[in-house]
Amino acid sequence: MAEPAAVTRIDVRPAGDAPYSVQVGVGLLGDLVDTVQAVSAATRIAVLHPRALLATAETLREELSASAGHPEVVLLEVPDGEDAKDLPVAAYAWSVLGKVGFTRDDLVIGLGGGAVTDLAGFVAATWLRGVRVIHVPTTLLAMVDAAVGGKTAINTEAGKNLVGAFHQPAAVLCDLATLDTLPAEEFTAGLAEVVKTGLIADPVILDLLEDDPTGRSHLRELIERSIAVKADVVSADPKESGRREILNYGHTLGHAIERAEHYRWRHGAAVSVGLVFAGALSRRAAGLDDATADRHRELLTRIGLPVSYPADRWPELADAMRVDKKARAKRLRFVVLSGLAQPRILDDPDPEVLLAAYGEVAS
Ligand SMILES: NC(=O)c1ccc[n+]([C@@H]2O[C@H](COP(=O)([O-])OP(=O)(O)OC[C@H]3O[C@@H](n4cnc5c(N)ncnc54)[C@H](O)[C@@H]3O)[C@@H](O)[C@H]2O)c1
Repeated sequence: MAEPAAVTRIDVRPAGDAPYSVQVGVGLLGDLVDTVQAVSAATRIAVLHPRALLATAETLREELSASAGHPEVVLLEVPDGEDAKDLPVAAYAWSVLGKVGFTRDDLVIGLGGGAVTDLAGFVAATWLRGVRVIHVPTTLLAMVDAAVGGKTAINTEAGKNLVGAFHQPAAVLCDLATLDTLPAEEFTAGLAEVVKTGLIADPVILDLLEDDPTGRSHLRELIERSIAVKADVVSADPKESGRREILNYGHTLGHAIERAEHYRWRHGAAVSVGLVFAGALSRRAAGLDDATADRHRELLTRIGLPVSYPADRWPELADAMRVDKKARAKRLRFVVLSGLAQPRILDDPDPEVLLAAYGEVAS
């Protein structure tokens, strides 16, 4: 697909919250002033960003400060990666908002990967019980997943993402040009969520990735299709009381692997193994055909993502899955496929079937 210069707008209409647009395009950061003015009359704006995006944040500050009304713009640099999603960092952000006299009309901007958009969303959700936030995701994973849908969180001693709130953004701006500086392994990890979306809802995504497993030649279409699925699911079930659970395909085992690896594996890498496991489980317990189950491993391997995990770690992973926040009353729940793009829930599966499915990813 040729890349049009125009901006694509994908609407999210979460019941009970204001609708918003996810904009996708190349060189969109210059449109941020217009987006800010369309959704808020802020006189103070706080931009949360990692060190890697300092230069971008400074450019945004100049443009926003020079815009109509001359809002006061403060830059809050936060630690890199998961270290941003920490209570002292949120407390630091709250203290800055307090110092500049942030009111309900003011605006938080999350500029960065999913760690920053999760933190920025959390800070915005909690300050004065909720101020507006605009997300400017700069990783593939944040564009197709973290920045869309209103889940915000920080990590605590008790675990990852256990403290948070649902807080929908007022707008999301995906500038594909920001991906130019993203390290290759971060980009590849983001493709795991794109594959997941293809498997649960939009098989054209799989065709596009099979045509070019680097994801580069169809990048814009892959991102737009993935966001469209997420927007649709989140609009139907903003607070994860039903359909939204399908987005967790591959994540039950994926989260257990992240935990077993003390969060040193990238989320997408752990999800990749989880997807192969979910395909194997779907074949054994939900009637998924062999070709589609095998397609999980073949595609993820071609992309360069991991598809196996040590055989002897199963007891530890099974224990971790039971305490996952997606488990209910310690009964394991999995999203499985009964066919391509036909997800459903498998509740409390036979442990023997789980072990056999793990056999397909065990190395
Ligand atoms: N809220 C949700 O629905 C949701 C969904 C999925 C994931 N998440 C969360 O997202 C986080 C992972 O997000 P991520 O994969 O984007 O990782 P990340 O935010 O840690 O970013 C990865 C790395 O890339 C750097 N980076 C970001 N953009 C860059 C750019 N354009 N150029 C150069 N470097 C750049 C970051 O500084 C960081 O070092 C996790 O905390 C996960 O829990 C949230």
